[in-house]
Amino acid sequence: PVVACVLAGGTGSRLYPASRSDRPKQFLALDGEESLLARTMDRTAFADERYVLTRASLADDIHEHAPEAGVLIEPDGKDTGPALVYAAWRLRERFDEEPVLVCLPSDHHVADDGAFAARLERAAAIAVKTDGLVTLGVEPTRPATGYGYIVPARSDLGGDGAYAPVDRFTEKPDRETAARLVDAGAYWNAGVFAWTPSALLREARESPLAPLVSALEDGDPDGGFDAVESVSVDYAILERATDAVVTPLSIAWDDLGTWDAVGRAVAAADADDAGNDPVVGGVLSIDATNNVVAAPDSHVSLLAVDDLIVAAFDDRILVAPRDAAQRVRDVVARLRERD
Ligand code: GDD
Ligand code: MG
Repeated sequence: PVVACVLAGGTGSRLYPASRSDRPKQFLALDGEESLLARTMDRTAFADERYVLTRASLADDIHEHAPEAGVLIEPDGKDTGPALVYAAWRLRERFDEEPVLVCLPSDHHVADDGAFAARLERAAAIAVKTDGLVTLGVEPTRPATGYGYIVPARSDLGGDGAYAPVDRFTEKPDRETAARLVDAGAYWNAGVFAWTPSALLREARESPLAPLVSALEDGDPDGGFDAVESVSVDYAILERATDAVVTPLSIAWDDLGTWDAVGRAVAAADADDAGNDPVVGGVLSIDATNNVVAAPDSHVSLLAVDDLIVAAFDDRILVAPRDAAQRVRDVVARLRERD
């Protein structure tokens, strides 16, 4: 069976103050009427069964946003590495026949849900055929530092449905390395994966997550989460995997991880003549260009400012230059220290 496994345990700290720890970004409607999680579920309807992978405190909200899915609760929030290894173990137990898992994040904007679903189905088939870790590659449009980069073993990979072994996987490089990788024909890692539990667990045994696999094998009740550090699947497994495969996604796609991305991906269509992207709320702008404004309950006036993020939710306001969008997580970390 093909089993969709949707990751929805993150907090989305770079989208503060819209996202707060009790209201992470997957529950926000950033690119339309429905929440990001509900949109993600729409793209997985082809799967035989669907699960949302999350932490206990979010389970009730998950039921509300994804009533059609089962909820799989990880013992602790330790980023996507432990979460995906745990999911592979638990989901394998539930089926007589080994399933193939399609794992996808819940913070993405995809232009064409139907085409995206077709690509996921294809990725699942490649995972069965190659017995490898299948990644979906997006053609980069800039040397972004917030993504992983995948260098395919063949440069003439071709179009949809084609795949090649991964030569190198580099998670979140600095700007200079990113530019080099783009020149070398690397893809962005879409953060969407297909694999059988056996393939993932095989690689996990050779990774810093090995203690987690051993604990699961020994039937440890807390699932072995105490034995490992927080780490994403990209750093823990994909950067060192020997049997990763990449297939092109070739569909308009964006990770709505930062206000800059939200402005770019979502509001481009609604932008005013000066290119200010009102994500939500009303905006008056005079001599102001290329600002992202997200303030559902406020009216915002911009005068002679450019390239800013202005976000106001509840009683919290954030003002920052767009190019510092990745660093909004530092604000959240600092606020947390203070509280
Ligand atoms: N269940 C669970 N548990 N989900 C988690 C956890 C966790 O501890 N941490 C994060 N997630 C979920 C988030 O909610 C999101 O849907 C997804 O996992 C990815 O996490 P992000 O924190 O958004 O990762 P990223 O955007 O920085 O990087 C990843 O995605 C990029 C593309 O969007 C990496 O895979 C990059 O290589 C990739 O380019
Ligand atoms: Mg993300």
